[in-house]
Amino acid sequence: MSTVTTASASREHRITLRSLANRKRKAIPFSVLTAYDFTFARIFDEAGIDVLLVGDSLGNVVQGHDTTLPVTLDDVVYHTRLVVRGVRRAMVVADMPFGSYQVGPEDAVRSAIRLVKEGGAQAVKLEGGAIVADTIRRIVAAQIPVMGHVGLTPQSIHPMGGYRVQGRGEEGRAQVREDALAVEAAGAFAVVLEGIPQDLGREITERLAIPTIGIGAGVHCDAQVLVMHDLLGLNDTTPTFVKQYASLGAEASKAARAYVDEVVNRKFPAEAHVYR
Ligand code: KIV
Repeated sequence: MSTVTTASASREHRITLRSLANRKRKAIPFSVLTAYDFTFARIFDEAGIDVLLVGDSLGNVVQGHDTTLPVTLDDVVYHTRLVVRGVRRAMVVADMPFGSYQVGPEDAVRSAIRLVKEGGAQAVKLEGGAIVADTIRRIVAAQIPVMGHVGLTPQSIHPMGGYRVQGRGEEGRAQVREDALAVEAAGAFAVVLEGIPQDLGREITERLAIPTIGIGAGVHCDAQVLVMHDLLGLNDTTPTFVKQYASLGAEASKAARAYVDEVVNRKFPAEAHVYR
């Protein structure tokens, strides 16, 4: 297996649907990471992340909810605007939150238009397989690219009975496979595969012409996605599928403790930090 450096992977200009399709064709994986604000969007864009997802995971990691269900369309529009301002190269995809596309395709198109027109996203993502195929078709017909999301779909926490690995057993495998195929047939340009066995991730990746983006779906997917707080070590828990690349939570805590200590002991501000 040849190694592609970040520098060579990020040499191209603005990431488009075409660049992602080319990456699948050339079997060069691409990177997807969530972002919710200007500062991190700028850092990740400059680091060569290919796609920034304004995920409804913001409900958990930014808003402090237990699920993604309370996130509103206004919330995602707002955070998408912040992210778009920090980006020059990456594609920005905005997640469609629970309630913004389930009522019917017309409502879904209206929501997707807001994410593009007011938020500035280049594409939207929504959860579900065969059941949302018509909705995907309608949004794509409105000239808005759609990323699908099948397998473990966090907005379905209640019917799923918790966040459980999907696609186990013949029936489970067939369900996820059919959902991925339905999303592709409906016109999605890529599909997130979440929380499924690695060999199923491989099978679906080989069957689909569009790129698969794995999160807890193994190494054979065409791309990988992580929540930024997991990657940076800003969360208390680390699920099996996460690799923590930094410990920013511990670093931030250390910095805040040092600041408290220096303020209490009048060590800050020092001579270098005062005006004369
Ligand atoms: O909301 C989100 O961040 C997501 C990714 C984890 C795929 O849907």
